[in-house]
Amino acid sequence: MKRAAQLGCATVAIMLSAACCQAQQSAMNPAGPQAGKIEWLFWVIFWIAFVVYVLVIIAFTRASTRNRVREERPVPVLENPPGERGAAIAVHSALAITVITLFSILVMSIITGEKVEGITSKNPVTIQVTGHQWWWEVTYPNLQADQTVITANEVHVPVGKPVVVLTNSADVIHSFWPPNIHGKHDLLPGYQNAFWMQVDQPGIYRGQCAEFCGYQHAHMGFAIVAESADDFSKWLEQQRKAAETPHDPETSRGEQVFLGHACVMCHTIRGTTAGSRMGPDLTHLASRHMIAAETLPNTRGALAGWIVDPQSIKPGSQMAPNPLDPDELNALLAFLQSLQ
Ligand code: CUA
Repeated sequence: MKRAAQLGCATVAIMLSAACCQAQQSAMNPAGPQAGKIEWLFWVIFWIAFVVYVLVIIAFTRASTRNRVREERPVPVLENPPGERGAAIAVHSALAITVITLFSILVMSIITGEKVEGITSKNPVTIQVTGHQWWWEVTYPNLQADQTVITANEVHVPVGKPVVVLTNSADVIHSFWPPNIHGKHDLLPGYQNAFWMQVDQPGIYRGQCAEFCGYQHAHMGFAIVAESADDFSKWLEQQRKAAETPHDPETSRGEQVFLGHACVMCHTIRGTTAGSRMGPDLTHLASRHMIAAETLPNTRGALAGWIVDPQSIKPGSQMAPNPLDPDELNALLAFLQSLQ
């Protein structure tokens, strides 16, 4: 019994610590003006639906308990049975109330939609999000090509500033949905689209692909990292830099492992000869808090498992297995974890 209680306490402690460190994902806890308006509309429709549900149940209960035929004889058919006028009035009133309610919901939806899309700015931060099976390429374009930042699965934004998000897809239709911040936006292959978004509360908010896009659709998450304007500028500045040249023999060997194996076929690390755009840009991999599109924490162990046997973690993903020697793997991990 004591052991069961200890086990229970340990489980609760683990769950609480996991909950406090994880990015939140909830449309019920808006972190920006747009999600706030969407939440308001949700509760209005919820309470209307609740009242309708209660009224229907009351009417149904009354109808099923009243006017029971108590006698065996058939009910006489009359031309104008008493009560028919009352029933007609009730039906017509219900119909009118239904039409008015649905029309009100339609008007409120349109007004909310207008307000949600009403954010704009003359000097916004521009972010390009491209959907891939099954990860997100995130680009901060700059007129100077060497100042453009490319990262993956983590969208950094400054707090309280409108951001314009350009969307596209490299393969099939995906849908970008950060519920704490905004509604869903489809990413269509071959079609550039755009929307505005704003986050008012600093924090990390988890988002999810909301359009079924194949086997690993459920493992196509992303994070919105909302930070102060200063922190955002520092982050962007750091991301603009090329990867640091390895300083010690282990990291240096890791770089050679990276460049000498299949990694180089799909990934870019600016500052090295790796320049393929098939998979996520890894120039600042170690600065990200999760890997494999929010599937695993960015720890040495998780990274090792992902490199060696990604198909067990995300079957069907484009990442190929890499059966490396332990020495090679350790060196590669040291190199990848140096990519701050
Ligand atoms: Cu991408 Cu579902």
